[in-house]
Amino acid sequence: MSDADTELEARLEEQDSFEPPESFVEQANVSNPDIYEEFEENWPECWEAAADMLDWETEYDQTFDGSNPPFFEWFTGGELNASANCLDRHLDERGDEVAIEWVGEPTDEANRTYTYEDLHREVNEAAAALREMGVGEDDVVTMYMPMIPELPIAMLACARIGAPHSVVFAGFSADALATRMNAADSEYLITCDGYYRRGDPLDHLEKANEGLDNVEHDTETVVVERLPEDDAFDHDLRDDQRLWVDAVHAHKGAEVEPVARDAEDMLFLMYTSGTTGEPKGVKHTTGGYLSWAAWTSHAVLDIKPEDTYFCSADIGWITGHSYIVYGPLALGTTTMMYEGTPDHPERDRLWEIVEEYEATQLYTAPTAIRAFMKWGSEFPDQHDLSSLRLLGTVGEPINPRAWKWYYKHIGNEECPVVDTWWQTETGGMMVTTLPGVKEMKPGSAGPALPGIDAEIVDTTGEQVEPGRAGYLTIQKPWPGMLRTLYQNDERFVDEYWREYSDTDSDDWRDWTYFPEDGAKIDEDGYITVLGRVDDVINVSGHRLGTMEIESAIVGVEGVAEAAVVGGDHEMKGEAVYAYVITEDGYDGDEELRDAIIQGVEDGIGPIARPEQVIFTPELPKTRSGKIMRRLLEDIANGAELGDTSTLRNPDVVASIQEQVQK
Ligand code: WTA
Repeated sequence: MSDADTELEARLEEQDSFEPPESFVEQANVSNPDIYEEFEENWPECWEAAADMLDWETEYDQTFDGSNPPFFEWFTGGELNASANCLDRHLDERGDEVAIEWVGEPTDEANRTYTYEDLHREVNEAAAALREMGVGEDDVVTMYMPMIPELPIAMLACARIGAPHSVVFAGFSADALATRMNAADSEYLITCDGYYRRGDPLDHLEKANEGLDNVEHDTETVVVERLPEDDAFDHDLRDDQRLWVDAVHAHKGAEVEPVARDAEDMLFLMYTSGTTGEPKGVKHTTGGYLSWAAWTSHAVLDIKPEDTYFCSADIGWITGHSYIVYGPLALGTTTMMYEGTPDHPERDRLWEIVEEYEATQLYTAPTAIRAFMKWGSEFPDQHDLSSLRLLGTVGEPINPRAWKWYYKHIGNEECPVVDTWWQTETGGMMVTTLPGVKEMKPGSAGPALPGIDAEIVDTTGEQVEPGRAGYLTIQKPWPGMLRTLYQNDERFVDEYWREYSDTDSDDWRDWTYFPEDGAKIDEDGYITVLGRVDDVINVSGHRLGTMEIESAIVGVEGVAEAAVVGGDHEMKGEAVYAYVITEDGYDGDEELRDAIIQGVEDGIGPIARPEQVIFTPELPKTRSGKIMRRLLEDIANGAELGDTSTLRNPDVVASIQEQVQK
């Protein structure tokens, strides 16, 4: 490092707030600081600004309907179609402009570029194919696909005919696919033969087929052939399966009229982890969700039609839904898709893509930033990243050091960094700085967005003093919010509302949304999110339920009981620690350890793989028999343990502690 660099590092280290760069503010989509006050005074009508970002076939007659809490409705009476908003309305002005720029993992493979006209054509053909298969309005179509263009094409085709999609992350296991298809009664699956990971072709259809074996009803499958012949696996399609080329290309040139959907009609389902073992089917609607994705893309990501916007998330997660597909396409911009990992073939792959396509925004996750930081700045330094105008992060808290590294080495101190807090359930961003308005404080996501009413409260619901830890709550509804959990209104109320609402009240003001995150707020209203307070852990920005992992482990022969907690991890944020009691006659040996790891990979997927498996004759329990999870977390973290004398079995602690490798 040169002296100048050292000096700069020292200065950055001390600085705890950053003004948005003047050059950015001058051109920002939102730069008027009065927006906070205006939205507050004008709530809920302020959200007409979001609805105005869309084209409506029928104007809505009510902005917000709070008459049946917590089943809130937005833009009621309005009708629209999401695919028409993402495609058709851009054709006149932007038909020749690029909608999706797709980069495959192999560097010797040609990239695929879809203009808005191309995408419109392919979506229409796919919609015609789905119709022919019998997919009707409100039939749930499952997609189990990696980052290939047919995924957004299939999603938009579903949206066009009013069939909700349910995308299952391709890295999830066969079991996870089956659980989700069963839960959603989904009779249709779109998947692919395989894809590339770090240079190797992966057999994806084999996994999909294993999943289908456990689906309880009849299904029909469409298979996209992603792999070129040389790398393709040998598969015979079953009778209820056909190739995408056959299904879709039979409809060359077809035009499918976009179905007018009610604002409140379901656009998609997305399964996510919660406190119990069973994933939750989060339901998002057409009007509220799409307007939220569009408005936040405009206000926070500062997307303009002429941009080349790059989000490195996977479409299999909510970030990809809102900020690779729906938000960017609703705004008519160019959205990038990258199939591979950031370190293949080299650790500069993302920077090479940013340079080659002159990406204007980069939206990624803290876990990726920590990896970039560890690899070193020589990788971004090899590339011209001056096209970038804004940087974003999402998924987990970002520590100030990683934030500053991102700001300096990727943004060259010229790009605002938006640290965006939100969830699958919120549909889009909720707490973050407006990049053209607010100063940034590394480590703090920022104030709630205009029109969003966030409070940090204690267990009784009273607001806590600035600086003190409490619970994040959202006091007013917003258009992008989930409407319910699929076919489970009761669980919806229990999971998100019961904690802080007067559930007997029919006045919406008495209802408070609880995201299950801990947080603190400073004097300026900046919120620092501290992490989940339920049994959800966040591994590399991926949300996993400890109960789901436990049930996968307990399914392994030789395991009697298991407790899973998240322990701190330098790169992943959190890692899975599994404490396991063996059945009589079984040893906690390498063989069982491997079987447990395999069990988790089969039950959920490799992302949930335990970092450590700790065998123990007993789990620490309270007198009432509850497993002391907090204690297990402290043990995983090698932290100082508090008083353990209230345990029923204090003696087990030392023996467990000895086994944890730190
Ligand atoms: C966490 C991802 C701190 C949080 C969009 C939340 C964050 C969970 C941030 C949702 C952030 C997300 N700072 N924590 N900027 N963003 N989280 O549903 O715990 O996969 O509840 O949605 O991620 O994860 P989900």
